[in-house]
Amino acid sequence: MFTMKKVVIIQGSPRRKGNSSLLAAALQKGIETSVPNGVHVDIFSPVTHTIAPCIACERCCKTGECIQSDDLSMLIEALDAADALIWISPLYFGGVTSQLKAIIDRFQMLWARNMLAGEARGIRSDRSRPALAFYISAQDNPFSNEVKKAAALLPLKYASNTAGFILENDESSHLAIVGPDGPGEVSAVAYETAREDAISKVVMAIGKNQEA
Ligand SMILES: Cc1cc2nc3c(=O)[nH]c(=O)nc-3n(C[C@H](O)[C@H](O)[C@H](O)COP(=O)(O)O)c2cc1C
Repeated sequence: MFTMKKVVIIQGSPRRKGNSSLLAAALQKGIETSVPNGVHVDIFSPVTHTIAPCIACERCCKTGECIQSDDLSMLIEALDAADALIWISPLYFGGVTSQLKAIIDRFQMLWARNMLAGEARGIRSDRSRPALAFYISAQDNPFSNEVKKAAALLPLKYASNTAGFILENDESSHLAIVGPDGPGEVSAVAYETAREDAISKVVMAIGKNQEA
């Protein structure tokens, strides 16, 4: 039976028409038209969805459920059905945005569910779907070479593992777009190159997972 592939993009910028939003929309379109047999791409973001920060009540550690009622359940459902996960975030002081970190912290419910199900260290061992990360940063400064290894990486890796995805350390799993600052300022050439690169990374990741 044919099942359509699914990809979830989580984009962390609070700007509705910012560079990350533009990239997310372009990736959605590019992936949906580039993958043979079709793929459906869902985008979650702080501007389109309401996901409040974790309040550390620890109820999920006992029940596996979160006491807060918001769009987290929609995201979890989409993640469960996804074949690949894509993170996009502007860098804020070398890390992901606080809005994206709030979403990541709510993955504590997944961590608790995994622990309750007996998974070691709360990391799902039954899934190995690919995750990719794209970072947007304004400065081509002395830190630009470190962008991919920066603080942003750790929360994304932890969250990916907890949700049953693997964000590898290799070049093919990360892309840093350095330069854009104002909303939509991402330059046409850099953007086109990054967009094409990003789409081919995703298509390759889905293909690899299909063969495995
Ligand atoms: C609070 C804040 C912190 C930022 N920190 C950094 C930084 O550490 N390094 C950097 O290169 N750019 C930094 N920037 C610039 C953003 O990464 C840049 O404007 C990016 O294009 C925003 O992406 P967006 O349009 O998707 O929101 C920061 C911007 C804000 C608002």
